Amino acid sequence: MTNDCRSFHVPDTDVRPTAVIVLAAGAGTRMKSRTPKILHSLGGRSMIEHSLSAARALDPQHLIAVVRHQREKVTAHITAHDPSVLLADQDDVPGTGRAVECALEALAAQGTAAESGTVVVTYGDVPLLTPELLSELVAEHQATGSAVTVLTTELDDPSGYGRVLRSGDEVVGIVEQKDADESQRLVREINSGIYAFEAAALTEALKKVSTDNAQGEKYLTDVLSIARASGRRVSALVTQDRWQVEGANDRVQLQALGAELNRRTILTAMRAGTTVIDPATTWVDSTVTLGEDTTLLPGTQLHGSTQISRDAVIGPDSTLRDVTVGEGAQITRTHATGATIGSGSVVGPFSYLRPGTVLGEDGKIGAFYETKNVTVGRGSKLSHLGYAGDATIGEYSNIGCGNITANYDGENKHRTVIGSHVRTSSNTVFVAPVEIGDGAYTGAGAVVRKYVPPGALALSVAPQRNADGWVQAKRPGSAAADAASAAQAADQTRNHEDAPTATDRK
Ligand code: UD1
Ligand code: CA
Repeated sequence: MTNDCRSFHVPDTDVRPTAVIVLAAGAGTRMKSRTPKILHSLGGRSMIEHSLSAARALDPQHLIAVVRHQREKVTAHITAHDPSVLLADQDDVPGTGRAVECALEALAAQGTAAESGTVVVTYGDVPLLTPELLSELVAEHQATGSAVTVLTTELDDPSGYGRVLRSGDEVVGIVEQKDADESQRLVREINSGIYAFEAAALTEALKKVSTDNAQGEKYLTDVLSIARASGRRVSALVTQDRWQVEGANDRVQLQALGAELNRRTILTAMRAGTTVIDPATTWVDSTVTLGEDTTLLPGTQLHGSTQISRDAVIGPDSTLRDVTVGEGAQITRTHATGATIGSGSVVGPFSYLRPGTVLGEDGKIGAFYETKNVTVGRGSKLSHLGYAGDATIGEYSNIGCGNITANYDGENKHRTVIGSHVRTSSNTVFVAPVEIGDGAYTGAGAVVRKYVPPGALALSVAPQRNADGWVQAKRPGSAAADAASAAQAADQTRNHEDAPTATDRK
């Protein structure tokens, strides 16, 4: 089961568009960022990745992105996400109409001109748009035999948007805010900027689009009135879900869209069988997978390719990125990246799991443990206060409190190999490279520098020597000396009884 709110069944082949064009040439100056606007992310993916994956779900013959502003960065990002996206450069002529023209020219230049079928146009900055709604637009467009079908919505405050002009029920055109008269500005139905076009009608109409308007741009919106003037039908699909057509122009809108996306992801997850105690403090990327009967406690953040299996409990206050969690595992107050947690395991509280941590079934990584590049076998436990890096630990071994793998000699990293059923005492230091055989033990404070054979007890601390009466001799009159004298006097008295005395303990 997946909670991916974009999970989608492939549409029927008769609705398969010839091309989907994603407009991404704009500057996005209001983001106030050195990073191009569409590369800002929410829900674990950049805006353009959200747009491209919604577009890809329509299974078009061609997927084209139009770029211009910060071309190198945007191009590299898109290609890394999906190398099969065709990139079209927009020239100096501004406007959405010109952007689409450039996309069609790029297609023609590679010998696959979009002469027939449906061409969908969408934006690189509408991250909540779902494949379902896009597909509905295409289906409506094809069912009505329209030259253009535009996706619209009604807003209480339509300012800034192009307004949809109707004559009765029929759509007759779109007028931009800057070109609209007072009565047109009162129209609350707005152009989302997302359309399905009949390919031939689009190409024909674009030839007639001029830059004769308030912004001196080639408006894609003019295609609607041009198609209608040539006797073709123009339609609209009105959505009630304004979030799906909302773009992010600044960081305030980006945050609002991110919160809404998260709310939707969590709703989908809850409906699919995940318990979420506090959706307001729980953040789940749209790329995360959750099993049935998992529980997310407050303050949980799940990112990237994280996968949680059934019955696992995560949180409170845990951040997992690219982590795989097995069935029934419990992760408490943990920060983990690139780790694999076996089923039935227990992690935390206050554990720091770095990439390459693999914890076997029924294992434990306890409080204040840091791990990195370590494989821990089934049933083994690293319970408290330590560091395990570049190590392999067998099955059912118990690593004592405060154990450290000294994996770095100042120049190179080395491995520690610990066998199965090993028991190490508190404060053992493994000076890597070093190996500990199956069933071996270490003494408290041992600094293990060389091989410990199976079944051996490794001791490296010098035998203890007590200098009797040292405190009373060297620190006469101190509280410690007084306490020591009192204890010795009590011992004398008790010598006549059965209770053990300090003398017995020697
Ligand atoms: C456009 C529509 C408007 C609609 C609004 C919805 C036109 C003329 N107007 O407004 O009716 O309500 O979108 O958001 O189409 N872009 C390019 N190249 C360009 C210009 C824009 O690729 O030359 C891209 C931008 O990167 C962006 C999208 O097109 O993704 C929309 O551009 P933007 O300037 O935000 O919208 P408007 O043109 O103001
Ligand atoms: Ca504009």
